Amino acid sequence: MMTAKKPKGPPLWAVDVARKASRGMTQIQRRMAPPSAVLVEMVSGMWRPYALGLIAELGIADLLAGGARSVDELARETGSNAEALLRVLRPLAHDGILASPAPRTFALTSLSQPLRSDHPKSVRQSVRQSMSDWARGCWNDLAECVRTGEPAFPRQHGGRDLWTWFHEDAQEDGEVFHDSMNEFTRLTLPLILAVHDFSAYRRVLDLGGGQGTLVGGLLAAHAQLTGGVLDLPGALAGAPDYLAGLGVAQRCELIEGSVFGDIPGGWDAYLMKHILHGCSDAQISELLGHVREALPPGARFIALEMLVPEDPSGTYPAFIDIQMLVGSGGRERSASEYRDLFAAHGLKLESVARTASPVSLLVCSRA
Ligand SMILES: C[S@@+](CC[C@H](N)C(=O)[O-])C[C@H]1O[C@@H](n2cnc3c(N)ncnc32)[C@H](O)[C@@H]1O
Repeated sequence: MMTAKKPKGPPLWAVDVARKASRGMTQIQRRMAPPSAVLVEMVSGMWRPYALGLIAELGIADLLAGGARSVDELARETGSNAEALLRVLRPLAHDGILASPAPRTFALTSLSQPLRSDHPKSVRQSVRQSMSDWARGCWNDLAECVRTGEPAFPRQHGGRDLWTWFHEDAQEDGEVFHDSMNEFTRLTLPLILAVHDFSAYRRVLDLGGGQGTLVGGLLAAHAQLTGGVLDLPGALAGAPDYLAGLGVAQRCELIEGSVFGDIPGGWDAYLMKHILHGCSDAQISELLGHVREALPPGARFIALEMLVPEDPSGTYPAFIDIQMLVGSGGRERSASEYRDLFAAHGLKLESVARTASPVSLLVCSRA
């Protein structure tokens, strides 16, 4: 049976050393400047993402893919005012995000190459998604979220969650969101494959699997696997083309349904990537009840999530927890918080596999 060679991620000790070194450098830089200056610089750092979001939105990196171009050409092609665009591109060049090889002329640097739509490690849609009107709108309401403990998104969208809103009113925002998830999954896939042996399974179902990026990658790496993706109807729209492009469509079933009640039995492994962190504890309880009901004896349930470290000084992408607070009302959790939630629903957390990215695999069986 043909199985692709297991990809090797970077050793975790090297990742830890690199993260600590980078954190140490930042602390040293901060100690060298007066605290007031550091704070003002931090808060003015908010302007950079706006500029970055705009160039991702306008597709400036795609226009620069063939080489340097003048701001006048870029403005013409994007329907922008050249003098205003110049004022956005100039600080990005100062920052090393773009280069400016001649006056009023800009080019990509190695840092901005992944803003190209066709870059193999593109993050263009992730940048667009993070800076989208709806995402920024949630953060604008942070004070109210902190006052009430309630997320902003449903309050701002007639009580609807993100998925209903994408489906009913905002297909284009939905496409950018799903594309951004695909980008992130493609970046982390080799690191996931490096820490868990998927050759042990025959049938893998990804719950809330969007356009099938994770399952598609697993099927491409393991010829013995068949797969499935269960998601809401609108979210599966891009899956057939994506899976066909990988040459695995024949081995992958697409199931329209909700994780709150439509989880089929009979699979060897049930994956759930970046779903639990979007849920409140009450939603998780309902969800895990359905998972436990569907999980056959001997099968595995694998949640892929970012973990809050048990050690309070540990690093993790802490700000995404605020995104959960303002967006869906979910939260990031530690491994022991997940272990307790799983245990309360008849699931035993067997192992936690860290990847070299912020994502860990929480592998569970029936208790
Ligand atoms: C944060 S995205 C994660 C997508 C994918 N698992 C990944 O990591 O790239 C959440 C996914 O859950 C899906 N979803 C939300 N509510 C759902 C429900 N009730 N049933 C099934 N899928 C749902 C969304 O459509 C979306 O694809």
